[in-house]
Amino acid sequence: MRKSGTVKIRRAISADADSLLELYQGLYPELKGKISSFKLPKADTETFIANYGVEPAGFVILTFISYSQKKTGFGYIEELFVKKRYRSLGIGKMLVNSVILWCKKRGYNVIFLTTPKTNIGAIKFYRHLGFRKSKQVWLQYINKKKKKQ
Ligand SMILES: CC(C)(COP(=O)(O)OP(=O)(O)OC[C@H]1O[C@@H](n2cnc3c(N)ncnc32)[C@H](O)[C@@H]1OP(=O)(O)O)[C@@H](O)C(=O)NCCC(=O)NCCS
Repeated sequence: MRKSGTVKIRRAISADADSLLELYQGLYPELKGKISSFKLPKADTETFIANYGVEPAGFVILTFISYSQKKTGFGYIEELFVKKRYRSLGIGKMLVNSVILWCKKRGYNVIFLTTPKTNIGAIKFYRHLGFRKSKQVWLQYINKKKKKQ
């Protein structure tokens, strides 16, 4: 094995597309032959707002994640919120349905999100709408503030 001293890390550019495609297919062998190009990811988001009359009642931020020109990718629900007084009116479900519709339009077949395990209400809501827990989320907190001695 080579020593890390010979390794350089640099920002990928569009000319790296073929190398990245090969690496990506190494990670997802099931995609071999299914995608022929790699697209450098850029933030690609949509925000939907729900109004109750003229009042803003809720919103959802959806990020699209795709590394291919082809229609393979994920929708990520970054934020979803309905004001307390407008809850249980079906607004959350309508916002999630907008997310599903937009992902379907793009040909994406997975939507994912994270929510704290203490957020029992949101867990019940998502479960009720058909979401299921899968895999594990691994976190590392960076830029931690030092505790005062
Ligand atoms: C989670 C949240 C978005 C739900 O919004 P909402 O507008 O109240 O949900 P809806 O009225 O659309 O509910 C849709 C369905 O889920 C069910 N549901 C909603 N909240 C539920 C709960 N806490 N427990 C059980 N079922 C629930 C409803 O009964 C409804 O069922 P139905 O379609 O059979 O009638 C809202 O409670 C919220 O903003 N919570 C705080 C922020 C948050 O936790 N966001 C998610 C973090 S990722």
